[in-house]
Amino acid sequence: MVELIFITVRILLLSDIHTGFQSGFPDIWIKNESTENKPDDNSLEDDLLLKLKEIRSIDYLIITGDLTSSGYFNEFKMVKELIDKISKTINIDKNKIFVTPGNHDLNRHIIDLCKIDQDNPDIYRDLNFRLFPEKDQTDGKTKYGIIPHSYVYNDDKVQIIQLNSISCITKEGQDRGEIGNKQYSWLKEILTDDLSNQYRIIIFHHHHLRNDPRPIIPDLSVMIDGPRLHNLIKEKGADLVIHGHKHIPFMITIHENDMVHPYTRICSGSLSVHSKYRNMGNAPNYFHIINIEGRCDKTKAIKGFVNSYSRRYKGQWDIPTWSSDEYIHPIQFFGPLFSKEETIKEIEQFILSQKHLNIILLPKYQKIPDSFKCWNVIKLNSFIKEIAKEKDMVMIGEYPTDVYLKKK
Ligand SMILES: [Fe+2]
Repeated sequence: MVELIFITVRILLLSDIHTGFQSGFPDIWIKNESTENKPDDNSLEDDLLLKLKEIRSIDYLIITGDLTSSGYFNEFKMVKELIDKISKTINIDKNKIFVTPGNHDLNRHIIDLCKIDQDNPDIYRDLNFRLFPEKDQTDGKTKYGIIPHSYVYNDDKVQIIQLNSISCITKEGQDRGEIGNKQYSWLKEILTDDLSNQYRIIIFHHHHLRNDPRPIIPDLSVMIDGPRLHNLIKEKGADLVIHGHKHIPFMITIHENDMVHPYTRICSGSLSVHSKYRNMGNAPNYFHIINIEGRCDKTKAIKGFVNSYSRRYKGQWDIPTWSSDEYIHPIQFFGPLFSKEETIKEIEQFILSQKHLNIILLPKYQKIPDSFKCWNVIKLNSFIKEIAKEKDMVMIGEYPTDVYLKKK
């Protein structure tokens, strides 16, 4: 049996930059005659680069699409300059930068004028993404996919599979995205490769499954063939699936009963879009550092955590607060998967070991066991409340601050 060596990987993730009229930042905003949007923030570049300078040891930069607002050349030029500065700041080679196209990177005026056939791949080479040429394959690590801007990259740490979800340019499919049959078959073949110590990461722009788990709210922007993609990933296995499109971040580890391999799904949210396009101003802008630290013994799912940084209205890039109006916590753990029963059992055991005390202090959030960490902090607090009620105790405080249990 091959001995697995757990390698640490750090990824800077950002998405949905939207240079042009949809940006909220004046330095990447371009006036559009048909809209009234005005930037509602200060300059993006200075504060962002300042914050990124503090963040060390990044292995890969992933940007999941919607670089521009309208796919215009001057918008691409602007975003290219920004990405160049970011990559210089975090000191990363260009073959470790992955940029997927988004639906806003299509220039609709040109598509309408040319009546381009969706099977004609030149649309992606010539009209869009023109400042992001096809990756260089001479590094021996990168191989072209079946359609432009789809790649597979392999090194000793990761396999990164970049998909192009804007291959569907029909009126219906423009904003919803599609992987398509050709790309699906290509992906299926890659996923049959056995990886040894590499982490497998799949990236694309559109969300393949709905973000909001509440079924009462219809999600009309989910990828046309997203469920088929999910079924393939859950059958063949991947560690991390990363996308953009939704301007609200989201993270979940998916582990359905029939899955061979659980995977963690991360939606980045937007880096720099105007507040009007961020859930009507309720969501901040975000970027994230993904830290992969190894695999869980039990499920072989990757484990690690995501550090998020957010920014609201002329504030600073900073770690979000633990408040309920944030869409992602400052640190979100992924990987260790435990059932509610297992977690409750562990909390109860801790209480039992301290039962001689009138007031029990639960372990500090930074030091809690993996079985606690795998839960969203709100859910974890609700379990503790449940146990306290059952044991006739009062819960004082909530995670991530100190939690005490006091006998009534
Ligand atoms: Fe977007």
